[in-house]
Amino acid sequence: VTAHPSYDQLSAAFLRMYRFEHLQAIAMWDHATYIPPGGNDARSAAMGELAAHLHRLRTAPELAPLLASAATEALDELARANLREMQRVHRHATALPDALVHEATIAGARCEHAWRTQRPANDWAGFAVNLKEVVRLTRRQAELLSDQLGLSKYDALMDRFEPGMRSAEVDRLFGAVKSWLPELIRKVRARQAKQTVIAANGPFPLAAQKALCERVMKLLQFDFDGGRLDVSTHPFTGGVPEDVRLTTRYSADQFENSLMGTIHETGHARYEQHRPRAWLGQPVSEARSMAIHESQSLSFEMQLGRSRAFMQLLAPLLREYLGAQPAFEPDNVFGLYTRVRPGFIRVDADEVTYPAHVILRYEIERLLIEGECEVDDIPALWDEQMMKLLEVDTRGNYKDGPMQDIHWTDGAYGYFPCYTLGAMYAAQWFATIRTQRAALDSEIARGELSGVLDWLQANIWENASRFETDELTRRASGGPLDPAHFKAHLEARYLG
Ligand code: CO
Repeated sequence: VTAHPSYDQLSAAFLRMYRFEHLQAIAMWDHATYIPPGGNDARSAAMGELAAHLHRLRTAPELAPLLASAATEALDELARANLREMQRVHRHATALPDALVHEATIAGARCEHAWRTQRPANDWAGFAVNLKEVVRLTRRQAELLSDQLGLSKYDALMDRFEPGMRSAEVDRLFGAVKSWLPELIRKVRARQAKQTVIAANGPFPLAAQKALCERVMKLLQFDFDGGRLDVSTHPFTGGVPEDVRLTTRYSADQFENSLMGTIHETGHARYEQHRPRAWLGQPVSEARSMAIHESQSLSFEMQLGRSRAFMQLLAPLLREYLGAQPAFEPDNVFGLYTRVRPGFIRVDADEVTYPAHVILRYEIERLLIEGECEVDDIPALWDEQMMKLLEVDTRGNYKDGPMQDIHWTDGAYGYFPCYTLGAMYAAQWFATIRTQRAALDSEIARGELSGVLDWLQANIWENASRFETDELTRRASGGPLDPAHFKAHLEARYLG
């Protein structure tokens, strides 16, 4: 006889959900990589059925009384954290009726499908018709979640991706960045105008790029027994901790993006591979949040991967896999990977201008969800902020403006802040690691990466969702999230 029968029943129920989530993750990966076109419709239908089944499991009527009685049982600290996460999953899932979720999925799919041809045609008017329907249904979901969670509508949506984060806090953090970013960009641009960087000469055979990417994944201690690298249009990390699937994309005329994209995804992948095995299948073993996840990919890509020290490791590998050329000297590779150029496209943005893309999307989507602006107002808001933050003129260019991302078409409102919050967390992790390892850069340059990787494993990966984000942050770094670390990082790298 166990002392916590209700908790045990819940554990069994959540383990069952995890098994289905496993199959869902692999089906999604296959859908993004290898599926032949003829399989598309049947796969979409099958995945819709699986998602509906999972929603029924998460909202099963027997869960509510079990959650209530488990809260009165004697549980250890981990089980209590697990119960807290179960309650969170349940609160979010039960706030939304099946019919509304279904309707929103269909509207999102319709909007996304039309967007594929509307975007190249710069057809904002056509796109806006579908987007209005997505926004209408998202606002309805936001209202229901807001009632259930006692949060503002936007905060209720953001809580799906970043539990505990509130827009008042995001405003404070992003407000700090807005106050210094335009001036920093101007200074960096002025400085870089005087520097010469030699472009790398292609073509770069795809097989050589793939071999190089896998070599760098090994350097970063990715476990190929429990995962693999493939190709997709939009790089991502999927699968499950026991079988992590990551993707990149290659282009013969340049190697920079496939390689750095792979380093980014390897950061996501190693977090997944090192979530605590003993708790797998339980909500407490899940990654803490999307911003914490992004802090791992950006620890790999930005903090480690684009550092001057890491170029000592990359440069010889570039020569080995792609052939020797003057561009592959460490200082020049650093120059290639740290060029700052304001542009239209978020996913192509450099480390310094990237936050501007995120801040403007956050401000617009929040107004939109709170009902303080409408879809028709988006282009003017976009143009104004792009000019203010990046001095880029986007008027009339919808395809490289508000039509460029997929997030708003598929209803992922509240996700954008996670990218820049992740960059801030990553800077804070490295500031902490540096206080503990004075010789960090020379260790990295020698290929000793254990100082970084062991710290991330002990402080982030193995904790998974055991602590809420604020406590995780304090335990790892001694204080709450502080954007000053991000500013100091950018100044040291780009003005130091
Ligand atoms: Co990422």
